[in-house]
Amino acid sequence: MRYLTIALAKGRMAKKSMELFEAIGIPCEEMKEAGTRKLLFVNEELKVQFFLAKANDVPTYVEYGAADLGIVGKDTLLEEGRRLYEVLDLGIGRCRMCVCGPKEAREKLRHHELIRVATKYPGIAKDYFYNKKHQTVEIIKLNGSIELAPMVGLAEVIVDIVETGSTLRENGLDVLEEIVPLSARMVVNQVSMKTRHERISRILDAMRALLREQGGTAI
Ligand code: PRP
Repeated sequence: MRYLTIALAKGRMAKKSMELFEAIGIPCEEMKEAGTRKLLFVNEELKVQFFLAKANDVPTYVEYGAADLGIVGKDTLLEEGRRLYEVLDLGIGRCRMCVCGPKEAREKLRHHELIRVATKYPGIAKDYFYNKKHQTVEIIKLNGSIELAPMVGLAEVIVDIVETGSTLRENGLDVLEEIVPLSARMVVNQVSMKTRHERISRILDAMRALLREQGGTAI
């Protein structure tokens, strides 16, 4: 039997994702070894392999079929816009994509002033301002610590993820507009969905049942 390959986004969500797989009977002991630098982990008995990739790359691996399944944030899916099936909302990593800034920026947003928007998500920001709000803005791509941008005058507002809100609070910024709620999603390669349907649907059914039990959401 060929391995079923599952791509996970490295970082906070990887551990929670593995807990879900373990709960449906697909554990991967190899991955639990502390301090490992390994990237690919195998469950020989079940013929399943997991790998950890940068979140932005997970949709790419799944679209090309290098992974049959993946778990990745909705933020990354929206930003990358890859061709794949989004099959489950796992309900983990819940947060919101928001327009944030100092209170004064509220007026500028309201009057559709030509403002600068700093973000790690230029695709999402562009879609929101251009297609939903019909507002012309200048989008500046950054790679992290986005909250800095309005504080040092790089941009009037930011488009960023808000989870607890503490990063905003500690830096004197507010949520000005909410763009979209986010959470981790399970995605499936479009060809694998047909050619490996039985194995994949067994996993999906088990995951759906687990989420129902936990009171999570399934789409
Ligand atoms: C994310 C996001 C915010 C923060 C929000 O950053 O970009 O900065 O978390 O979380 P909070 O509302 O709970 O404070 P992350 O830590 O992923 O790092 P980054 O600065 O590299 O984006």
